[in-house]
Amino acid sequence: MKFDLAEYLTVLSPKDRVGIERHLLVKKKGLLNKYNMPGTREAYTLFAGTIVLRDTYKFIKDKIESMLGSVENLTVLDLGIGEGFMWNKILSSLQPSLRKRIGIVGIDFSHIALKHLKKNLSGFSLNGLEIIRADMNELDLVKLNLNPDVVISSLALHHLNMREKVKIINGIKKSFDTKLMLSEVDFNLEAIEDIRLRNYAASLLYRDVFDTIRSIESQKNAELILHNFYYDEFLNILKSDNPSLEERYIPLSEWMNIMRSANIKLTDIRITLTGINNIYRIGIIEGRT
Ligand SMILES: C[S@@+](CC[C@H](N)C(=O)[O-])C[C@H]1O[C@@H](n2cnc3c(N)ncnc32)[C@H](O)[C@@H]1O
Repeated sequence: MKFDLAEYLTVLSPKDRVGIERHLLVKKKGLLNKYNMPGTREAYTLFAGTIVLRDTYKFIKDKIESMLGSVENLTVLDLGIGEGFMWNKILSSLQPSLRKRIGIVGIDFSHIALKHLKKNLSGFSLNGLEIIRADMNELDLVKLNLNPDVVISSLALHHLNMREKVKIINGIKKSFDTKLMLSEVDFNLEAIEDIRLRNYAASLLYRDVFDTIRSIESQKNAELILHNFYYDEFLNILKSDNPSLEERYIPLSEWMNIMRSANIKLTDIRITLTGINNIYRIGIIEGRT
């Protein structure tokens, strides 16, 4: 069956249908530079405030609190740390005496995100904050010369293609004796296996996201956020029936396979209870290298 984008665009408002077509044209001409665009940052701020992520951050915070029970100081390596939205939420809800025992090494390739990260975490007294601007795909983890207690990556590895995902997970296994906590977008395969239905569900979900952004942001801002971020996310989440190396969003079960193939022992799996339509949600996998 051929993947027909136009079929799913009918679910969206006429404004977004036109917007996505324009977005595809700009993309084809290679004129997008996502991570340095203000829209990307604003879009993620909106998403980070949603209830889906509140559950995710709470889960990771509880894990960190429990790890602090067995070590004096906790060193965390965060791959794709961004502006530190996750850390802001987690650190704000931890006791200052616990925060002081956490050292964070954050890696990201967006220099704008890292600039904001410094500002966002400057109010917390930590055991250390080291920021490394690097592309995960080009990074030799062994050369970092680190001994992290836990490697965390929250909503960042879906930006990598399949080959890169496998490479980074194998790299973590090879480089560190550590816990690994991965939080990623998941979709409910049990609830829905039919690819067309799944795409319709994604389109409905995104119609909701697009409409919400239009209703809470000024028109200019909404256009910026949608064009620089969400249209691309939408196009990436729609799955054709011909999965490719470029595929970004894979279900949690695929992440588990990648981790198992890298000989990482899975120790816990969670799926956030709240999702917009119980088809897309956030999953968290914890493992030990
Ligand atoms: C959606 S944000 C998540 C930020 C953060 N982990 C959180 O939960 O608050 C994804 C981050 O991954 C970073 N990223 C994506 N691909 C990357 C790569 N190849 N190397 C380094 N950073 C990358 C982006 O710059 C962005 O800051």
